[in-house]
Amino acid sequence: MEDNKLYVVMVGLPARGKSTISFRLQETFRRDNIHAKVFNNGNLRRKYRPTKETYSADFYSPENKAGVEMRRRFAMMNIHRAKTYLRRGGDVSILDATNASPQRRRMIERNLDDHPILYIECVNDDREILSLSINQKVKTPEFEHLDHARALKEFEKRIKYYEMIYVPLYEERNYIKLDSLHNRILREKLMDPLPYYSRIRDFLVTDIVKNLFLIRHAETYYNLEDRIGGDPSLTERGKTQAVTLAEFFKNRNISFIFTSQKKRTIQTAEPIRDMQRSCTIVPLKEFNEIDAGICECMTYQEIREKYPTIYNTRKKDKYNYVYPGGESYATMRERIETGIKKALFLNRNADNIMIIGHRAVNRMILAHFLYRREEDVPFIYVPQDKFYHIVAKQDKKLFQLRRYGLVSI
Ligand code: F6P
Repeated sequence: MEDNKLYVVMVGLPARGKSTISFRLQETFRRDNIHAKVFNNGNLRRKYRPTKETYSADFYSPENKAGVEMRRRFAMMNIHRAKTYLRRGGDVSILDATNASPQRRRMIERNLDDHPILYIECVNDDREILSLSINQKVKTPEFEHLDHARALKEFEKRIKYYEMIYVPLYEERNYIKLDSLHNRILREKLMDPLPYYSRIRDFLVTDIVKNLFLIRHAETYYNLEDRIGGDPSLTERGKTQAVTLAEFFKNRNISFIFTSQKKRTIQTAEPIRDMQRSCTIVPLKEFNEIDAGICECMTYQEIREKYPTIYNTRKKDKYNYVYPGGESYATMRERIETGIKKALFLNRNADNIMIIGHRAVNRMILAHFLYRREEDVPFIYVPQDKFYHIVAKQDKKLFQLRRYGLVSI
């Protein structure tokens, strides 16, 4: 008889996106009426031993015998719960923990021998994302007795301890090794027939966006003159627009605002952040506006007069034209994709994500979610008094250009 039940076992160092994937996988299954449940070891530890001792890095040292034993017991508790869940009618149990050592994985296999196991290993070594991710982690109650710098140190030390015992998947029978930042499968091995395999695979490589608010920065001094690039500030009118945006989004629960590194996007984000309960602005270099090279800070009229060849050649093939010393839409593509991946990874379980970008950048972001012919991308409408609301889930796609006015959402 075909086995329709499955154990999914997450593997990976802390802050690699395991819990996000587990939670979203559970949601995806449940939407399709498949009974799935996550069993997270950290949650047990926080529930049953919420003490400073278990929150300190040394609790994770492989030399700390009491710590090792306590963590083994929490792992066993979840193993039993996961097994019971499948026995009582569940379809998929997801074990969410580092499961970094082969010993731990053998213990899981010995105890969960009634249904197949699929391991999912999450890897991501992007330093910037890792440090932003760790920064978020240490804001949780577990670290509230420590100041920020100390908490960061403790968490990094905890990762080091896990690195000491971490052995990547290799000998296990069924696994997917995932670059969890880029949603890319790096390696997979499948020795047993597994239920839900292609569904899980599809899920792992698909971007899920519940609500993305894509906004162009408010009015700048350069906009008044039709001047491009540079790093101008917002005009008074631009600042008012930013406050209107802030009012509009005040009830929307935004945890992160991803901007470029330019003043105009950060200044637009600041009032929005200030009206949220807890919100961080994350400036990403990937979202900087197209680099116009030798034309930076010029008006279109000036370019036309000073560099007529540039002006005319760009007009003929705007998507592919590379500004001398700068970029084209085509050459921006890779960094924009990376920026989107970073934003989605960091946004984790939050429902709402906000990006404040620029005209060309926002066109490229839109084109990532909504297919457009390349030649049309540089002409997508990106006004400053409206924003795009994008939903891109497996069962729903939505692209809406909306005006932000006085009524908040
Ligand atoms: O607001 C102006 C701007 O963002 C410039 O910095 C940039 O060069 C331009 O828009 C991109 O638009 P286009 O590709 O249509 O020139």
